[in-house]
Amino acid sequence: MLAVLRHLNYRPWFALGEFVDNAVQSFTKHRAALEKIEGKGLKLRVDIDIDTASPARLSIRDNAAGIFESEYARAFRPAALPPDRTGLAEFGMGMKSAACWFAPQWTVRTKALGENVSRTIHFDIDNIIDDDIEELKIREKTEKANAHYTEVILEDIFHVPVGRTVAKLKEHLTDIYRGFIRDGLLETRFNGEPLVYREPKVFKAPHYKEKSGADRVWRKTIEFDFGEGLSVHGFAALRETASVAKAGFSLFRRGRVIQGSGDEGYRPAYVFGNPNSYRYQRLFGELHLEGFEVSHTKDGNGAPRGLAHLPGSPVRQGTPHFYNSPAAGERGHSPPGHMACVVFKVSTGVTESSAGDLTVRFDLTSPIRYHKCHKVSCRGR
Ligand SMILES: Nc1ncnc2c1ncn2[C@@H]1O[C@H](COP(=O)(O)OP(=O)(O)OP(=O)(O)O)[C@@H](O)[C@H]1O
Ligand SMILES: [Mg+2]
Repeated sequence: MLAVLRHLNYRPWFALGEFVDNAVQSFTKHRAALEKIEGKGLKLRVDIDIDTASPARLSIRDNAAGIFESEYARAFRPAALPPDRTGLAEFGMGMKSAACWFAPQWTVRTKALGENVSRTIHFDIDNIIDDDIEELKIREKTEKANAHYTEVILEDIFHVPVGRTVAKLKEHLTDIYRGFIRDGLLETRFNGEPLVYREPKVFKAPHYKEKSGADRVWRKTIEFDFGEGLSVHGFAALRETASVAKAGFSLFRRGRVIQGSGDEGYRPAYVFGNPNSYRYQRLFGELHLEGFEVSHTKDGNGAPRGLAHLPGSPVRQGTPHFYNSPAAGERGHSPPGHMACVVFKVSTGVTESSAGDLTVRFDLTSPIRYHKCHKVSCRGR
C-alpha cells in the first residue's frame, strides 16, 4: 500500500499541508499543556526547509506536542483512524501518503511533551515488505520532559519544487492556512522566510446610479444556516484592484482552505463570467463550510465528491436551498455526501469607478475538489 501512494495525484502544497495539518491538530489539542510550559501566547511554529541540491531534501519541523508513545502504533499504520475525527486528523493517512508521495525514504523524529525520550523512525519504502511496519525500528534518545516537537525529513524527493513552483508553494500555503495565521496561532517559515497573509483591499466607490454620492465599501457578510448542523458563513467582496490570478472564492473546512488558494480561486462560471469580465477579476470572498462531509475520492484525481453534483435541481434566486440526500454514486465506506445549494445576492455590476447591484447566483453544488487525495481507498498492495 505504501508503495502505491507515490502515484497519488497530489498538488505539492496540499501534500505539504498534511504535515502542517498534523502540527495544527496537535497544537490545538494540547494547547493548554503547552502553554503551561511555554507561557500564554505560545505560537505554533512550522518550519519548512527545502534543499534542492541533489539528492533533494525537504524537512518540516513543528513545536507542537509530538507523537505520544500511546499513539505511535496507530500513527505509523496507514489508514488507522484517529480517535477524534472532528479536527484536521480525520482519515489516518495524511502523513504516510504525503511522505510516500514525496520521497522513497523518510524519517520522523518526534518528542512528545512530558515523555523522557525522543523517538526516531525511518521509512525506506523499498524495504518495507507486506507493509509490516511492526518491523520498523524505533531509535530512542533521552531528552528532557519539557521538549516537544516533530520533524519529518523527506530524502531524495521525487517532486523537487524549483523556480516558479517554490513561489507557488509559498503562495498556496499562505492562502490555505491564512485563518490560523490571521488568528495568531500559526507562524510558518519557508526556508526561513515567514509566510504572511495580506488581506486584499476592498473596493470603495459610489453606486453607479449616484456617481457623485458617497463611497460604499463593497463587501457583504454571508451567513446561511441550513439546520441539521450545516451552515456557511463568510463574505463576498470586490477587490480594489482587479486580478485575473487572485480573485475568486476560497472554500474553508475546519479552518483551512480546501479549494481556492493561490491563483486557483473557486470561480463558478455562472457567477464569475468570463476571464475578462470585471466580476471575474474583482469578486472574491471566503466561504466557511460547517458540518459538511467530504468523502474519499476513489480515483486519486481529487475528483469532486461530497459537496457535489446536484442532480438537475432548480437554482432559484433569493432564498437559500438545501438538499440533503446522498450524492449519486457514493459507495464503499464513503459517507453519504451532503449537497447544498446556496443562492445569494452580492453587490456588483462593477466598472472602474463605480459599482451597482447585480444578483449573483451562487451554489455549492458545482464540483468542489477536495485535495486531500489520500482518501483513495487502497486495499492491499
Ligand atoms: N506533527 C505531528 N505532531 C503530533 N502528532 C502527529 C504529528 N504528525 C502526525 N501525528 C500523529 O500521527 C497520526 C497520524 O497522522 P496522519 O497524518 O498520517 O493521519 P491523521 O492526521 O490521523 O489523519 P488524516 O488522514 O486526516 O491526516 C495523527 O493522528 C497524530 O496522532
Ligand atoms: Mg494528518
